Amino acid sequence: MKTLKIESQFTIFDSLKETSIEVQDLMQKAIEVRDNAYAPYSKFNVGAALLLENGVIVTGSNQENASYPSGLCAERTAIYYAGAQYPKVKIKEIAISATSKKAPTTKPIPPCGACRQAISEYEIKQDSPIVIYFMGETGKVVKSNSLANLLPWIFDKSVL
Ligand code: THU
Repeated sequence: MKTLKIESQFTIFDSLKETSIEVQDLMQKAIEVRDNAYAPYSKFNVGAALLLENGVIVTGSNQENASYPSGLCAERTAIYYAGAQYPKVKIKEIAISATSKKAPTTKPIPPCGACRQAISEYEIKQDSPIVIYFMGETGKVVKSNSLANLLPWIFDKSVL
C-alpha cells in the first residue's frame, strides 16, 4: 500500500489589471461574449475566449435549454467550435469570465468538471498545455498553466 499525493499549482492575480495586456484583451473578449449567453433558467452568464496559435480568437457563451441537460457551457461551446473550424490549430490559452444576474460574482469561477474533461481532450490531442485564466465579474484572476492542474489523473484515450 502506498499513498500518492498529486499537487496542483495556480497563479492568483489580485485583479485583471495585474495580468499582461494580452491576457486582459483575451479576458475582455470573454467578458463581452458573456452577453451572448442564453441563460434564462440560471441567469448565470459565462463567456469563454480561446486564443489559437494562429492568432485567431474563438469565443463561446453558455446556451441553456428547457430540457436542462441539453444546454452547453461556454467553454465547451467555444472549444468544440474551435475543434470544428480549426481542427489542426493548437489552442494556447482560454479566458473564462462568469457573471450572475442574481448576485455579483466576485470570486473566480472555475470551469465545471465536464468542461475540464473536454478541455483535457484537446490538450492531449495537441500534445501541448492549454493555459487557463478564470475570474468572476470582478476580483481575482486565477491562472493554471495546464488543464492537468484542474483535473489530475484524467480519464483519457490511453485506457480505451
Ligand atoms: N456554466 C458554464 O457555462 N461553464 C461552467 O464551467 C459552469 C457552468 C453554465 C452552465 C449553465 O448555463 C450555467 O452556467 C449555470 O450552471
